[in-house]
Amino acid sequence: METKEIIYTKNHLDETASTNTYLQELDADRHLPEGYIVYTETQRAGRGQRGNSWESEPSKNLTFSLLLRPEHIPANQQFLLSQAVSLAMTDVLTRYATGFSIKWPNDIYWKDKKIAGILIENVLSGSIFSRAIIGIGLNLNQEIFVSDAPNPVSLVQITGHTCDITAMLDRFIDAFHSRYLQTFDSDSAQLLRDEYRTMLYRNDGLYPYCSEGKTFYASIAGVEPDGHIILATESGENRRFAFKEVSFLL
Ligand code: BTN
Repeated sequence: METKEIIYTKNHLDETASTNTYLQELDADRHLPEGYIVYTETQRAGRGQRGNSWESEPSKNLTFSLLLRPEHIPANQQFLLSQAVSLAMTDVLTRYATGFSIKWPNDIYWKDKKIAGILIENVLSGSIFSRAIIGIGLNLNQEIFVSDAPNPVSLVQITGHTCDITAMLDRFIDAFHSRYLQTFDSDSAQLLRDEYRTMLYRNDGLYPYCSEGKTFYASIAGVEPDGHIILATESGENRRFAFKEVSFLL
């Protein structure tokens, strides 16, 4: 496997609106090196997928963003980076407990509850994948959730032990670096995709999904390199969905 040195520089902030936004603005101001990380105690306006907000009680959780310049990944395979990030997160969490999985495309679950959310914002320059800002909110020591997020859980609720937030960030960086190296050659990248598949939430069996207001039962037949999910319906039909075109019914 390839080796590539990245210097992961950590910048700690007492508070900011959103670490993803902060990193975007800082990079526009002074071109940042790959591996630059911003993490914060308090995020005033954390952003989630589908225009949702991200709840995180001050100083209880890990909220951070990492800037990468993954120019070696073809733009039409940008989902590979998302797979590397999700797997790095489950690599770390499975050291603490069993029961973690990846809910397609990149929510991290423990049983039927969400422990971490990932918001990746990509910049493509033609076919070049020129920048990714990977924003992660990982619930660690928060015990009470007040937003209407349907099913949050934190690591302390799972293990009963509080967790050192900065140490967790360091563990993630190590795990992520190993996974990121896998994106540099095609055999390792295929292994990454295969492992991602085995870590998927509802990997086996029929479950309810909803698309265009209609509910149907299906099992996961695969995830394509561009990130589309293939669902095999009860009636034997294979249906292909992009994120936002289908939701899992819990
Ligand atoms: C989701 O599951 O909807 C994604 C949540 C992503 C939240 C993280 S917290 C750090 C980074 N900054 C943000 O504003 N969002 C991401």
